[in-house]
Amino acid sequence: MTGIYFSGTGNTKFCTEKFLEHFDRPNIFSIEDNSAVSAISENRDVIFAYPIYYSNMPKIVRDFIERNSALWHGKNIYIIATMGLFSGDGSGVSARLFKKFGAKIAGGLHIKMPDCIGDVKALKKPYEKNLETVKAAVQKISKAAEACKNNKPTQEGLNFMYHMAGLFGQRLYFYSKTKNYTDGINIKHSVCTGCGKCEKLCPMKNIRISEGKAVSGNMCTLCYRCLSNCPQRAITILGSKVLEQHNIENYKDNI
Ligand SMILES: Cc1cc2nc3c(=O)[nH]c(=O)nc-3n(C[C@H](O)[C@H](O)[C@H](O)COP(=O)(O)O)c2cc1C
Repeated sequence: MTGIYFSGTGNTKFCTEKFLEHFDRPNIFSIEDNSAVSAISENRDVIFAYPIYYSNMPKIVRDFIERNSALWHGKNIYIIATMGLFSGDGSGVSARLFKKFGAKIAGGLHIKMPDCIGDVKALKKPYEKNLETVKAAVQKISKAAEACKNNKPTQEGLNFMYHMAGLFGQRLYFYSKTKNYTDGINIKHSVCTGCGKCEKLCPMKNIRISEGKAVSGNMCTLCYRCLSNCPQRAITILGSKVLEQHNIENYKDNI
């Protein structure tokens, strides 16, 4: 079994790994890994996972699916969508695209995880509450993986009602946020030390160090990895102040 994921701040990677723990000899790759494409082409059964942004998939994920459109024909894909609260048809958004490219959708799973938007107050919860969320996620993933092994894969996010919930609950109003990459990163040059961590971590190669300071372009996929890892808390994206730097690693030892 092969797991392919995109993860900005670690939630989706964690969920993919937990799911695949239930299978023999799993391979797991980020869409950023060079080996992801060959892993997909060599396996019929694929677990495909991503976080939900505004009830849609991140632009980087859509582009990966479309860029590799020839890969999906004949694949059997089980989709995992992670989210802070609500996604409507989180798995359905990619399912429709995969089907267009000839794949069969085996199932879908929605997993609530701690919110990763570190510069907006809404959805912020204390550590203990987030820990409960992660523990509940692990249990849900475990059940879903066993159901999958017993040929009864969950079907979350895939039917018409989910589609309507995603469309009218959010996507209709916020579609523009995920339609294109953005130039929305703000880097406070008064505190940036030019350490280069953000440059190394950005999945879009959208940040570079110039004259000792981080500078961003217009290809941000909104993943929050730079904000969550900046040692100086110098980066904001949707908000204007860093309130929290989400990292799933902070929860792993206490599950
Ligand atoms: C730009 C952006 C938009 C988001 N929109 C939603 C949303 O519409 N609904 C939701 O439940 N969570 C939303 N989230 C939260 C993430 O889906 C959630 O925290 C996810 O598990 C992050 O996964 P990752 O750590 O693998 O990147 C959003 C996060 C970001 C960064």
